Formats: sequence, structure tokens, C-alpha cells
Amino acid sequence: MASELGMGELEVEKHVNYILSVEKNTDSFESVVMEHLRINGAYWGLTTLDLLEKINSVDSKEVVSWVLKCQHESGGFGGNIGHDPHLLYTLSAIQVLALFDKINELDIDKVSNYISGLQNEDGSFPGDMWGEVDTRFSYVAICSLALLRRLDKINVEKAVKYIVSCKNLDGGFGCTPGAESHAGQIFCCVGALAITGSLHHIDKDLLGWWLCERQVKSGGLNGRPEKLADVCYSWWVLSSLIMIDRVHWIDKAKLAKFILDCQDKEKGGISDRPDDAVDVFHTYFGVAGLSLLEYPGLKAIDPAYALPVDVVNRVFFGR
Ligand code: FPP
Ligand code: ZN
Repeated sequence: MASELGMGELEVEKHVNYILSVEKNTDSFESVVMEHLRINGAYWGLTTLDLLEKINSVDSKEVVSWVLKCQHESGGFGGNIGHDPHLLYTLSAIQVLALFDKINELDIDKVSNYISGLQNEDGSFPGDMWGEVDTRFSYVAICSLALLRRLDKINVEKAVKYIVSCKNLDGGFGCTPGAESHAGQIFCCVGALAITGSLHHIDKDLLGWWLCERQVKSGGLNGRPEKLADVCYSWWVLSSLIMIDRVHWIDKAKLAKFILDCQDKEKGGISDRPDDAVDVFHTYFGVAGLSLLEYPGLKAIDPAYALPVDVVNRVFFGR
């Protein structure tokens, strides 16, 4: 793979500077747009820096103290200080703390009670106390509780049963029972099933076929039939293919080239497709996709927890 790709094509320094500049320049368009989901942005940006072996460029104490201030009295986390809590922000908060080995600074019972309190009788999860049910939130709840080592706080059997009820005849998964298969939801369902040791519910050949059909002529991946390729699907599709052991069904070199073609080679950052404007979300999923493709010089990322493998090992095995 290394020789096929060429070592120097990923603009590491420029991407690091781009991530750091978005964080510092609070007047920029992207920072203003990101204000209400700043904690998600922190997870995307900081995980990118870690994959690039540059997480030491940020002040970890400052980040950790800001993350802890985003916690709401309910135990869940908001997207920024003083904002309402949501499961999506809660997972990002836990992931950022994991990056800095600071999960233990949390009141783990309080956070896990918030998450488990959202589980419905049928095993599903809404994103917050008012929100609609979606398999995204099943994943977020399961991933968060697993990282906190508190999966015993929910009914895992029912959670799995609900996810399986969202499986379609094409082998994929949607956001609710009967909803169309979508690669983002497939990542969530496969990830949740992987974390809970329930991958036997998946027809791997059938799903693997649907997922590898997402690769289009340019080498990029789309999220559903007839849609345009988008760098973030390098993550949603590739991580799913890896978890079901079918990643050899796509052309990895062509996908890597598509991601590299989406870089802003002057200012840094990665966009959804070539020549579009870059953002932190696609920069993260581009770099994460390259990590799954074993691009040289990048840390390995875990396809289920969406964190560097060494971070996941430290959470579960203390090393
Ligand atoms: C596509 O969204 C992606 C999804 C539906 C999956 C989102 C998953 C999470 C938020 C869980 C947390 C994720 C990680 C990596 C820890 P889109 O709205 O861009 O879809 P579109 O391409 O159809 O517009
Ligand atoms: Zn995208």
C-alpha cells in the first residue's frame, strides 16, 4: 500500500495548521457555525491531530477543563458551556477525555445514569429527552457506556433487538424499522453490534456487497445508491466493511487517491469532494479513512469506537 500511494502525498503539516487555526480563530465562519456543536468539532479536530501524531500541539489541561464545564446537571453534555445536553455531545465529551486519558475525571455514575435513563422499553434510544428515536443514538449510547465500562446499566439484549429490527432485506440498516439503508446508519448499527459482540445478526456477504457497491468511478464512496461520492463515507463505509471482514471487496488504492484529491494543498484541510471548501468534519473523516487504509505515518484507528487503537487499548487494558 505504501509504495502504491507514495509517502509524501498527505499534507500533514498543513492539515495540522488548518485544525489549529479553526480552533484559535473564533471569528471565522467555520468557528461561528460550529459554536453550538463545538464539542463535536473538538472530537473531530483532536482525533485528527492524534492520528497525525500531533495532539501535543494543544494544551490538554485547557481542553479537559472546558469539556468538563460542558456537563449539564442531568449528567449529559451540551455542545458548549451552558447548552442543553444531548447523547451526541456526551459521546464526543467522553471521546475527547479518552484521548487525554482523563475519563476518570468524570463522575462516571452520573454520566452513565443520564445515558441509561434515555433507553425506551423496546430497547431504542432518543438523542435527548425530547428527541426522536434513531439507531444513531443506539450506537452513541452503547459506545459511550462501553468506554465508561458501564454497559451493564442498560438492557443490552433489548438494545440489540431494536437495532436488528432496523435491518433491511438488502442487508443494510436504517434509522428506524423499515427506513431505507444508509451507510451512516449502517456504521452505527454495525458498530453497536460489534461493541456488544452481536455481529452474528449480520449477513456479512449481503451487507458487504451493498457496501462495496458504494464505490464509484472516481474511487470515492457514496452513502446510498445514485448519490455523489463524499469523503466522510470513506469512514462510514470502510469502517463497516472492516468490522464485517469484507474490506478486500473495494479498491483501496483508488479510494486513497480520491481522499488525497480532496485536500486543499495550499491551506490544508479536506473537503467532501475535490475542489469544494474544506471543513473539520471532512478533514477528520478523510484522515480517519486513510488510517483505515493503513496510509503510512498515521496511527491506526479503531473502526467501532472511532478512536485511535492505542487510546482504546488504554481505556480497556490500561496500556
Ligand atoms: C451521515 O450523515 C452519517 C450518519 C447518519 C451517521 C452519523 C453517526 C453519528 C453521529 C454517530 C457518532 C459518530 C462517530 C464517528 C463517533 P449526513 O447527514 O451527512 O447524511 P447525508 O450524506 O445523507 O446528508
Ligand atoms: Zn460528507
